[in-house]
Amino acid sequence: MMDWKKEEDKFVLPTYEKFPFVLERGEGCFVWDDEGNKYLDLYGGHAVCALGHSPKAVCDAISEQSKKLLFYSNLVYHPERARAAQRLADLCGGGQVFFCNSGAEANENAMRVARLVTGRPMILATMGSFHGRTAGAMAATGNPKYMKLSGLGASVAHVPFGDIAAASAMIDEQTAGVLLEPIQSMAGIVEPPEGYLEALEKLCRERGALLIFDEVQTGLGRVGARSAAELFGVKPHLQTFAKALGSGVPAGAVLASPEIAAKVKQGDLGSTFGGGPLACAAVSATLGEISGRKLWENAAKMEALVRETFKLPRIKAIRGKGLLLGIVLDGPSKAVRKALLEKRILVGGADDPNVIRLLPPLTVTESEILTLRNALAEIFAGEAVAA
Ligand SMILES: Cc1ncc(COP(=O)(O)O)c(C=O)c1O
Repeated sequence: MMDWKKEEDKFVLPTYEKFPFVLERGEGCFVWDDEGNKYLDLYGGHAVCALGHSPKAVCDAISEQSKKLLFYSNLVYHPERARAAQRLADLCGGGQVFFCNSGAEANENAMRVARLVTGRPMILATMGSFHGRTAGAMAATGNPKYMKLSGLGASVAHVPFGDIAAASAMIDEQTAGVLLEPIQSMAGIVEPPEGYLEALEKLCRERGALLIFDEVQTGLGRVGARSAAELFGVKPHLQTFAKALGSGVPAGAVLASPEIAAKVKQGDLGSTFGGGPLACAAVSATLGEISGRKLWENAAKMEALVRETFKLPRIKAIRGKGLLLGIVLDGPSKAVRKALLEKRILVGGADDPNVIRLLPPLTVTESEILTLRNALAEIFAGEAVAA
């Protein structure tokens, strides 16, 4: 049998720490490796597989679309683009959509809109956040028409997440927008203090800055509501989405509120692949499923189950909302994650070394959650005996 791990390591740059198996297929909350081993996936392909693996509705939609028209750019109208945008706006508070290909690109474009609309240079962000990895493509573009849109000449300042006084001291007539994850994921699932997001919205509106929610992880049902904006009762000017948006077909989006959408002009933003027919078929099928099945309700139900049943010795706290959850241990989580992998359960880590991150499909069942609970209980009991 071909050793695909070895082949990949030979030809792909070694930029990722990987699970030690070759994946072959997936269905629902499970994946299978090339030796036939079955894993319970509570990491959900890094929050992408909200409908589970290879969901039929999305696979059928992209299969049909690929036979009709695989691609055409934004120079033409296309029914799937209209449908995808309408479904996103309906789900997440209304407005108009710009499609792109990833979360980083969505955030780049949201910051660009904030600068264009306000005519101001600065973006305020929060410590501990993660917004993506792109930098400089537009700054490197040697055409003055685009160079002035790049925004790289302008700066980004950071304040501590949750500190409204620090934000208030920084938001002034130079501030185009305030960009933040409403719940910080990579940091280790850090929730905003009570009233923080509402106060930020008020500050932004009073001082003419745009509030930008990075909903790349929190959006589309994950936090037990349609979006974090809905959960916290806040109306950001701009929201960014990716991850679950295309169920794995690369797609990102900026949703602009009607007041901001009215100020965006032809030529302000662009992308070759963003909003292509295949991606939009995946987006509209994904959003159709999330909305039609109200999957945020299952996310909220499963959060309650975790909070009720994960009362185990080494667990200090459960952080997060819906199915964006952090299990906080009394020490580093790495050995526990490894023990879970030996029991064929996939979970995630975070920048906070004590945290196990859960980002399962929104379709996860009670018995799948309890499988994790019982595995953790067994691992902790084994550790206690060994100690
Ligand atoms: C909150 C958040 N924003 C943005 C991104 C970047 O998304 P992408 O990797 O699709 O560029 C991520 C990726 O993990 C993320 O978690």
